[in-house]
Amino acid sequence: MKIAMGCDHVAVDFKLQLKDYVESLGHEVVDYGTYSYERCNYNEYGVKVGEAVASGVCDCGIICCGTGVGISIAANKVKGIRCVVCSEPYSARLSRQHNNTNILSMGARVVGIELAKMIVDEWLNAAFEGGRHLTRINQIAEYENTH
Ligand code: RB5
Repeated sequence: MKIAMGCDHVAVDFKLQLKDYVESLGHEVVDYGTYSYERCNYNEYGVKVGEAVASGVCDCGIICCGTGVGISIAANKVKGIRCVVCSEPYSARLSRQHNNTNILSMGARVVGIELAKMIVDEWLNAAFEGGRHLTRINQIAEYENTH
């Protein structure tokens, strides 16, 4: 898969470690920044990754900031994005199976790197189950498209 990645200044090292890991699994990564420790605004990178995924340039995305919260809120403002903030693997898996999330967000100050890799594994390997879950996602999309 082609995976968009992004972070703020707090999560640069965390993102780079995850980038190496995701590439070691055989995926292609497009890194939308930030690339330095200079203070920046997480929302810029959440939106960049969100747009890359919503437009189809990338298949899905992985983003991070200090908590994973701010950047996820920004990504979720992009139409068509369903971004989950995760600090454990169970929600990561279920967010794919039930909510068809297309971006995973984690907090570099919350999750250790080995746990983060486990969360990534769980998220990437799970598949959307459709059925009743699709009905709900379609209803969310309908709201998004009409408000
Ligand atoms: C930056 O200080 C911090 O607010 C950011 O990384 C993130 O935790 C926001 O949600």
